[in-house]
Amino acid sequence: MTSLDIALGVDALEARWADGRQATYPYLWLRDNCPSAFHPQTQERIVDLLAVDPDARPHSAVVTEEFLVIGWAGDGHVSRFPLAWLAAHRPGEALADPAAIAPRIWRADLAASGIARHAAAEVLGDDQALQAWMTETLRDGITILEGMADEPRAGVEVAQRVGFLRPTNFGPTFEVVNRPDPNNLAFTALSLPLHTDLPNQEVPPGFQFLHCIANEATGGGSLFADGYAIACDLREEEPEAFRMLSEVAVPFRFHDRETDIRVHAPVIALDRRGEPLEIRFNAHIAAVFDMPPDIMPAYYRAYRAFMDRTRQAGYRVALKLIPGEMVVFDNRRILHGREAFDPASGFRHLHGCYLDRGDFASRLRVLAARKPEPIAA
Ligand code: OGA
Ligand code: ZN
Repeated sequence: MTSLDIALGVDALEARWADGRQATYPYLWLRDNCPSAFHPQTQERIVDLLAVDPDARPHSAVVTEEFLVIGWAGDGHVSRFPLAWLAAHRPGEALADPAAIAPRIWRADLAASGIARHAAAEVLGDDQALQAWMTETLRDGITILEGMADEPRAGVEVAQRVGFLRPTNFGPTFEVVNRPDPNNLAFTALSLPLHTDLPNQEVPPGFQFLHCIANEATGGGSLFADGYAIACDLREEEPEAFRMLSEVAVPFRFHDRETDIRVHAPVIALDRRGEPLEIRFNAHIAAVFDMPPDIMPAYYRAYRAFMDRTRQAGYRVALKLIPGEMVVFDNRRILHGREAFDPASGFRHLHGCYLDRGDFASRLRVLAARKPEPIAA
């Protein structure tokens, strides 16, 4: 008995699995994805699609215990598709993705105590702990690591456990301290209203790691809000504002003596299903709006509606980082900010670095695919 019933249609093979699932496999797709078309070691495609007859048709198709074997009319080529591979690759459905963790949207009721905490030593030393921490970071967009060593490279070590750092115009990593000659408001003692970092980049950095080395000054507390929550509430309660914010690209720009980095992008970017994918919100580096003046009144209404929500207590979670803690958050989802601090009252020093979303997801997929360790006898 086979677990797959097949029928040869005009342009595609129709398949029905024992559990009732169905799939349609167009013939050209089957030829394009014949297992022999891929390099056995690199798994990259090595057959030239233009060398394949676009009208290729099977002259035979047989299902065995583990394979669908197709003999092709014309060149007589034989393709052997593992049934498990066919089940996983059904046209019209995305391949299962262990990194596609559904966001759990949060508001103020999460509270600082609701931010998941993990021990840095476990994340560094154990793949399962690493995977658990990364999964929660993707789900909530924010987690805190505790027990970090008291030196800047400790945060980098954790970030590099995930993947390559994302360098920016501020360098491979950055020191958040009050500086005499700041090129960024973060490097002063002023308050920072809720924002995302570097929305002026074509692709803003994904995950931000802020490792607290010292936080002795009066003030300097941290603030966080889930940008997806604000976007979803706007969609529900102020749909016109949501539409403007997701459709109208606005200019963002950072410039100093060395750089002038600009982009036009919407405040809310949506994925293919229309769900929030990315938030760019940073009132201090939003550039001079340049949309047509006739839409400006409506745009300002929308932009102020978003900004107003960033001030509402219902979205905000406040905490004060202590030395040895590192907050890790998705900078393209979570807005962060800080209270002003008094540099005369004590030293404040955060060490930061970034990592792109794609590298984070890649690491999680590789961790999910690894075989469990054999249990020692
Ligand atoms: C930053 C920033 C927060 C802080 O460096 O971009 O937002 O707590 N810092 O100093
Ligand atoms: Zn910031």
